[in-house]
Amino acid sequence: MAIIAVAGRKGGVGKSTIAGNLASEFAAMGRTVVALDADPQHSLAAWAAQGRGMLARCVEKVEASEALPARARRAEKTADIVLIDTPPGTPATTYQAALAADLVLLPCGPSPLDLLALKDALALALKARAERRSKRPRIRFVPSKVLMNTNLGRSLSSSLKDIGKKVLPPIGQRVAVAEAVAEGLTVREYAPDSPAHAEFEKLAKAVDKIVSR
Ligand SMILES: Nc1ncnc2c1ncn2[C@@H]1O[C@H](COP(=O)(O)OP(=O)(O)O)[C@@H](O)[C@H]1O
Ligand SMILES: [Mg+2]
Repeated sequence: MAIIAVAGRKGGVGKSTIAGNLASEFAAMGRTVVALDADPQHSLAAWAAQGRGMLARCVEKVEASEALPARARRAEKTADIVLIDTPPGTPATTYQAALAADLVLLPCGPSPLDLLALKDALALALKARAERRSKRPRIRFVPSKVLMNTNLGRSLSSSLKDIGKKVLPPIGQRVAVAEAVAEGLTVREYAPDSPAHAEFEKLAKAVDKIVSR
């Protein structure tokens, strides 16, 4: 059983996309999944409401007034995996999520500005760890919306490694990812044979390895 938060200060780097697609991959591994949408914009919930796929069954909205750590721990009682999608630019929520999480995933886009914003989110996650006096949350970077076969794409993983946290397998910028959202589906449901799905499957396996140990 694990609580996994997807966080970052910047909007548009793929947090909700990664949270939703990981939910789908974990469900396919036979896990019971709850995906908590803790972003007041509720984009994960909107994505889920668009279709009748697995997200429609596992996404729950968290209101701003709710205590996130308590809500996440409650969800953990009935689920093997609790994913928390957090808002950008809201340090308080990110911090609360990091207080509850076993693992914090920090997606990062390929722009140098994405890297700068990432350092803020990393600092928050580290502060939560210090507060807990624990090795939790573990922290991993996820290269996101990567333009594969470009120099910027190639250099992202090594730039992330230089910041000092382990880097998980990358998610490429791919049309199928956005198309799946439009259908209210995850990539696994929408395009199971696509390279996009292969990437999310690989990422989920890597995440599973971390939370299973
Ligand atoms: N790997 C990807 N390939 C293509 N489009 C993506 C990918 N990841 C995210 N997007 C698109 O980028 C936009 C922002 O993604 P989102 O997950 O909402 O970011 P965040 O939650 O960090 O604000 C959305 O329109 C989404 O469909
Ligand atoms: Mg989002």
